[in-house]
Amino acid sequence: MRERTKSMSTAEIGLIGLGTMGAALALNIADNGFDIAVWNRTTEKTTAFVDKAGDLASRITGTDTLEDFVKSIKAPRAIILMVPAGKIVDDQIAALRQLLDADDMIIDAGNANFHDTNRRARDVGDLPFLGIGVSGGEEGARFGPSIMGGGKREYWDRVAHILEAISAKHKGQPCATWMGEEGAGHFVKAVHNGIEYADMQMIAETYGIMRDGMGMHHDAIGTTFADWDKGVLRSYLIEISGKVAATKDPESGKPMLDVIVDAAGQKGTGRWTVIEAQHLAAAIPAIDAAVVARNLSAQRQTRAAGQEMFGAAPHHLPHDSLSLDTLEKALIAGKILCYAQGFEMITKASDHYGWTLPLPAIAEVWREGCIIRSDMLDDMASALRDETGRSLMLAPKFAKMLKETHGALRHVVAQAAMHGLAVPALSSGLAYFDTMRTARGTANMIQGQRDFFGAHGFERVDGGTDQHGPWGD
Ligand code: 6PG
Repeated sequence: MRERTKSMSTAEIGLIGLGTMGAALALNIADNGFDIAVWNRTTEKTTAFVDKAGDLASRITGTDTLEDFVKSIKAPRAIILMVPAGKIVDDQIAALRQLLDADDMIIDAGNANFHDTNRRARDVGDLPFLGIGVSGGEEGARFGPSIMGGGKREYWDRVAHILEAISAKHKGQPCATWMGEEGAGHFVKAVHNGIEYADMQMIAETYGIMRDGMGMHHDAIGTTFADWDKGVLRSYLIEISGKVAATKDPESGKPMLDVIVDAAGQKGTGRWTVIEAQHLAAAIPAIDAAVVARNLSAQRQTRAAGQEMFGAAPHHLPHDSLSLDTLEKALIAGKILCYAQGFEMITKASDHYGWTLPLPAIAEVWREGCIIRSDMLDDMASALRDETGRSLMLAPKFAKMLKETHGALRHVVAQAAMHGLAVPALSSGLAYFDTMRTARGTANMIQGQRDFFGAHGFERVDGGTDQHGPWGD
């Protein structure tokens, strides 16, 4: 191991796990003037990391054993874990507990399932423990992520000055906020990722309409996203989608998108969100559709067999049947509906887990640094502050926007359906909208069926609960 850059017990914080995110976060911490100790399971990675840290190396203590790592940090210690979610986190906590003092703190900054964070917060007993969701990919981790904290407030307060300093800023305000006890931070991060999935899927669906339905070339698609990025849809995901569409493969000269296999990966956070939504009886159909779309994208052979069996759908939309302006409006409506669902789920979880999750502050913490950052989140924060307890769909600003755009969403979904273009997230957004604007729906039929076959009872519109029908044979 190379000679240590700094002497023992000088670091204000420690970080374990020098993968892409951990390394970027450690540099960010050093860059913000905090001395940091780092440790990685493989010592070579630690050495290489410190060697490449340039001027920042003077603030970084690379250590080759966990014991030295712990000794390098000033007590009471704060140690960030940036290791893959799952058993590795439990193993790392167990190893650390042998070495830590009673008031030292462990901060799990990975993409943990919040149920695991709840369990860990209990299992560590009195040892301070925080679970923080960190969003923004490698660049965010290096230059300012969005941070969603969970655990006891007093633990958060101990490290808030560091987390706020390294976070992204929105007009000077740090995008680092304490969300609530135990796994609240990781829960909010999971919903962030669910929204991320739906936002990405809806963008991919509009890309498909432009490519297959409107016959547009990738350069034109890239320009369209770049144009949309100057309007209501202005967001990181629209910006990068434009860049992705416009990029050429250096090897073949073809658009990059033409050389990428159409099967999406997923590490599981979107799936956790959907599973949790079912537990909470929260309706997040756009997020659900996005996770299902990723699952189906992996079924390449079956899709190819389906095309052979049934023939490719017509795809091409009739000339002038859809404008880019209408497509943009449809995406605006879809996006509002998807966020309305995400915030609805947060409200349900807040009640269920007794977390008192701060909805406006969540919208604020997502305004910069994270993957779903967008201009619209600023208005969402104001709407959630003014309209506590009401769906975002009903907040005046967003209700007005939906009134102006839901017709476009309907037109796009109808055109897509008529021409065999799969738009599962957009169409589920539309079905959600129509359901949520229908005062009298069709569940009376479900209740009739349930009572018929199982005597489950129903409520009458003119009064009386646990009623039964006069069903014949
Ligand atoms: C973020 C992202 C990040 C996520 C990756 C990959 O907020 O920075 O959400 O946490 O893990 O984007 O996620 P998938 O592999 O599930 O697409």
